[in-house]
Amino acid sequence: MNHTKAYSAASATSPLAAAKIKRRNPTEHDVQMEILFCGICHSDVHQVRNEWSSIMPTVYPIVPGHEIVGRVTKIGAAVAKYKPGDLVAVGCLVDSDGNCPHCQSGLEQFCPNMTLTFNSPDKHLGGVTYGGYSESIVVDERFVLRVPSHLNLAGAAPLLCAGITTYSPMRRWGVTKGKKVGVVGLGGLGHMGVKFAHAFGATVVVFTTSPGKKDDALRLGANEVVVSRDANAMQKHTGSFDFILDAVSAHHDINAYLNLLRPNGTITIVGAPEKPLAVSAFSLLMGRRNLSGSLIGGIAETQEVLDFCGQHNITADVEVIPIQKVNEAYERLLKADVKYRFSIDMASLKSE
Ligand SMILES: NC(=O)c1ccc[n+]([C@@H]2O[C@H](COP(=O)([O-])OP(=O)(O)OC[C@H]3O[C@@H](n4cnc5c(N)ncnc54)[C@H](OP(=O)(O)O)[C@@H]3O)[C@@H](O)[C@H]2O)c1
Ligand SMILES: [Zn+2]
Ligand SMILES: [Zn+2]
Repeated sequence: MNHTKAYSAASATSPLAAAKIKRRNPTEHDVQMEILFCGICHSDVHQVRNEWSSIMPTVYPIVPGHEIVGRVTKIGAAVAKYKPGDLVAVGCLVDSDGNCPHCQSGLEQFCPNMTLTFNSPDKHLGGVTYGGYSESIVVDERFVLRVPSHLNLAGAAPLLCAGITTYSPMRRWGVTKGKKVGVVGLGGLGHMGVKFAHAFGATVVVFTTSPGKKDDALRLGANEVVVSRDANAMQKHTGSFDFILDAVSAHHDINAYLNLLRPNGTITIVGAPEKPLAVSAFSLLMGRRNLSGSLIGGIAETQEVLDFCGQHNITADVEVIPIQKVNEAYERLLKADVKYRFSIDMASLKSE
């Protein structure tokens, strides 16, 4: 067993602070890595503050972080895919049973026995798993991914959650050239959604509550930007979208977006606000629209995202911060003030 430096929160109201945690020694199939960068997902904030208590209550202390890029430091005897020095990544999952129908079809995120990267029962050490706000991590090689070496590593880290979470539903619902696609909420997920929809050839409209993000949205690949508080601007798009991705982290009116779908159009919710959203039956009946959800993506598809981003030179737009600024970053996320993902330079943890 190793002790490693990390940042953890002791309760729903405590700030994150330096701590020591245990990591297992690599077993036969394990890869040990030094963590170079870890993105800050809004899910980290929801869970540190126990906002999902009814679905997955937080166990304290919590070490969040599931957008991990690192370098292999040690491998188990049976590991064939990686060697020390390789650039690797870990996303939201670190284990699953491998033999249920979901695992067999590459949808490990729905495995009843999957282990999340943090706040999931730890089969090796007991207690719960600890995430990427730390110096190192040990993960079964089946859940370790390869990072194209030419990508900017700070910007590649968010592909492991924000990337796969937006890529997967767009592939599933057929976002291609000629389709009209909306992205609601220009944060970490939303800005990746814009990049992917644009790369897939769709016409992209961003819906934002922040008028100041307009130029950035256009630069990221949007064809049009609508400030969602402008009822007239919203009205103009009624019944016209093939697909809308809703990546909003807080309570909002989803009916306003359902009404923008054309007949048979689909809205996929990826945002996970604390409280339920009210849906008007009429928003669905009119035009027999589809309301769906999506949760991250399986391991093979996450590797597909990394490879796609390698080929198209896509990374997140990041603000690189030292770990000591993490509490400030959380406060800024709550104000929708991020351009467009925080990525923690984990070298900053060495001085703690
Ligand atoms: N389904 C999954 O697998 C999955 C994976 C990762 C994250 N998530 C969830 O997805 C959500 C977004 O995550 P993120 O990391 O992208 O968060 P984020 O970077 O904080 O972005 C959220 C964006 O939502 C918009 N927003 C915030 N408050 C709003 C409000 N009150 N009304 C309307 N819009 C508001 C803002 O965009 P504008 O300024 O443009 O309005 C904000 O930038 C979170 O709930 C997170 O937990 C889900
Ligand atoms: Zn996430
Ligand atoms: Zn399974």
